[in-house]
Amino acid sequence: MSELDFASLRTSYRDLGLCKAKFPDFDSIRDIRDLLESKLQAILGSNEVRLATYHEFASDDEHEDVQWKMVQYFWSNELCMKIGQSQLELLNALIGPDLHIQRHPFFRIARPNRNEDNIGLHRDNYYGQSPFEVAFHVPFLDLDADSCLQFLPGSHLVSESAYETVPLDKSDWNKGSRKHEMGFPYAPKKLVGDLSAVKPLPVEFGEVVIFPPQIVHGQEVNRGQVTRFSVDFRVVNTFAPIVMRKDLTSRGYAPLSESAVASVAQQYLDNCSRNDASEKGYA
Ligand SMILES: [Fe+2]
Repeated sequence: MSELDFASLRTSYRDLGLCKAKFPDFDSIRDIRDLLESKLQAILGSNEVRLATYHEFASDDEHEDVQWKMVQYFWSNELCMKIGQSQLELLNALIGPDLHIQRHPFFRIARPNRNEDNIGLHRDNYYGQSPFEVAFHVPFLDLDADSCLQFLPGSHLVSESAYETVPLDKSDWNKGSRKHEMGFPYAPKKLVGDLSAVKPLPVEFGEVVIFPPQIVHGQEVNRGQVTRFSVDFRVVNTFAPIVMRKDLTSRGYAPLSESAVASVAQQYLDNCSRNDASEKGYA
């Protein structure tokens, strides 16, 4: 067992709308980071490149292709599921024993001083997320105050109408396009209103930021010295009141963990005929 203070994490999530935790299994997340760095070196044909220095090696012309290859690698090797499975102690303690995890999460590469690599400050509910879903922001290297994401503590309880949004110019990509699949909205919106209390949240590698989708968060521009490699994935309680999609898109979920109670109930219901179960009021 790790030494995570779950009571403090819950209090922070409840009061601020976010909490920052150390992953209980550091070795697993380090192994995944190493896989990603090796893959990046193979794509670029250089043993010199590191995640942090990616922007010094990749040209503008090849950037989108490199990101797409990294995304495909992350998805096809089910690295999100591997993170979830290795960090269940944290996930179960915060969200419950019955969990689903996103199948195709957004794998981000934000180079220093590149507006086009970020989607700016936003609330994920603008793009269809439920407050019952939980977002995990996982950096694959240390991110200081200039390179990390920013958050507006307390905005997780503020109603949708409290912040105005204005549509940005139509993007060059469409729904279902490669850019869209990589987490760039095809109908982007800009958040306007009092955002003066937005604060950077520096993170060290091995830490994770956990937040409900509706908190104001994001990055306008990476002003730091390193390329931000990170993944944002969602976990949801299996019994949350959402439509649980299973498709291979960013909206699809896969089972991650199941309690004995849910397992027994499901097996029993499967063993009963539908009529038998419904007559007794179980289904
Ligand atoms: Fe987001």
